[in-house]
Amino acid sequence: MIIGIPMESEARETRVAGTPKSVAQLIKLGYEVVVEAGAGTKAAFLDEEYTEAGARIASSGEVWASDIIAKINEPTEREIGAMKAGAYLIALIGAPRNPELLERLAAAQLKVLAMDSVPRISRAQSLDVISSMANIGGYRAVIEAANVFGSFFTGQVTAAGKVPPAKVFVSGAGVAGLAAIGTANSLGAIVRATDIRAEVAEEVESMGAEFVVVEAESQQSTDGYAKEATANYAAAAARMYAEQAREVDIIVTTALIPGRPAPRLLTSEMVASMKPGSVIVDMAAGAGGNVEGSRPDEIVTTANGVKIIGYTDLPGRLPTQASQLFSQNIVNLMKLLTPQKDGELILNLEDVVQRGMLVAQDGAIMWPPPEVAVSAAPKQPEITPPAPAPTPDKKPMDRRITYAVLATCALALLALFTISPSGLIGHFMVLMLSVVIGFYVIGNVSHALHTPLMSVTNAISGIILVGCLLGLVLINQDAPVLAGANLAMLILSILGILLASINVFGGFTVTQRMLKMFRKG
Ligand code: NAI
Repeated sequence: MIIGIPMESEARETRVAGTPKSVAQLIKLGYEVVVEAGAGTKAAFLDEEYTEAGARIASSGEVWASDIIAKINEPTEREIGAMKAGAYLIALIGAPRNPELLERLAAAQLKVLAMDSVPRISRAQSLDVISSMANIGGYRAVIEAANVFGSFFTGQVTAAGKVPPAKVFVSGAGVAGLAAIGTANSLGAIVRATDIRAEVAEEVESMGAEFVVVEAESQQSTDGYAKEATANYAAAAARMYAEQAREVDIIVTTALIPGRPAPRLLTSEMVASMKPGSVIVDMAAGAGGNVEGSRPDEIVTTANGVKIIGYTDLPGRLPTQASQLFSQNIVNLMKLLTPQKDGELILNLEDVVQRGMLVAQDGAIMWPPPEVAVSAAPKQPEITPPAPAPTPDKKPMDRRITYAVLATCALALLALFTISPSGLIGHFMVLMLSVVIGFYVIGNVSHALHTPLMSVTNAISGIILVGCLLGLVLINQDAPVLAGANLAMLILSILGILLASINVFGGFTVTQRMLKMFRKG
């Protein structure tokens, strides 16, 4: 079958649905690929590169006559008319808000797979353009903010004085929000974030931001999406936003509830309370806006000098990267649809991913698809162990007893040294120093490095084992074994073997248990 990649007709669109790399991958799947002349120019992909990758450069008419059309945006009336009946169309469709378009596509007898209707399940992540684009959008939102912000993001100590780092607040920690957090963090800002879904706190913290808790009941989502906030939550959140707005320099809002207008998070009063020169990026400006006063595709400067960026084309502002990810998502879809790698598209409606994306076929509208149980299951609430029963106050040990114990230990050591071979005191000092140094060194090793540390201590225990075995071999055979220096050697060697073995065999057992956790079934 022939896959056609046309030039996007929307004037502002910079992306293209195929790159030279993706074209080569489609050809490997057995397809023939035709690319409209100049289709990739705005994304820095030249016609020659497509030709080198194995595609044919063709006129618009020839491309639109292909068996499969892969494009970015919803098709226009003219484009639908240019397609042949029975052909496949792969593009963003916006099915929930475009019932007329669905009717038109069905009437044209097209088979339409909507790239924006991929179910949010882990298996379909490699086709999910919404996530790919939101990731780019979140990154670009911070870059746009940095572009109009008058100061550094990172703190600096300069010869002229200290510069504090910028404070960035991100609202909504979905795909775009997490990308914004990561970008602001890597630019050196102090980052805080919030989300109505409590389960994302860990992800926020792992990206290097502080999770700001709203003092109200938060949501535990069952499908990875948020529901509308309760009045109680909204009131507590408003107090939190008012506080953050006064403190931070940059706010990026990404809050979204599927199928609803964007939740309003920042009011004009909150914006007015921000420092002059602060920047807000309202990523939801195209869907009603999270911020009062934001306007789609504009930068609004308020009376107090706050800039509100409402760009709705953030992924398109990184056209090369966005085209690469979009076209890779298409390649991944085509791999799924071409099980034999023979250039023949086979649609399997038993597969929830394919069924979820199919919005029109054989004259019928196929949207909405049957509901899919998604994998973003909520975490079980943490069970707090019951508080231990109060124990009766312990009396501190009598001083005299402490001194007696210490004196006994000292005497025992003295006795041990008298009967031990000469040089033991030196070894003992080394041992004591090692214990002190080891205590401080190991105590400060970060948790992430505990596994390699365990391997090192296992190796050390191995050396101790060899030493103790050697000690047993070196016991003086001419003197009684259970007396004098021989007895001390025997006791110490056996003790050493016992302790080192605990570490070695314990280490093996722990490793086995950890490996088991990664084994399937
Ligand atoms: P997502 O669904 O992954 O994340 C949205 C997050 O907002 C979720 O974590 C949700 O729990 C949270 N949320 C919902 N209501 C909230 C509330 N009241 N308070 C705090 N958090 C709340 O969505 P994704 O893909 O990250 O997209 C985010 C937004 O960015 C969407 O509005 C999307 O349309 C927009 N977007 C805009 C682009 C642009 O060029 N301006 C580009 C890409 C995405």
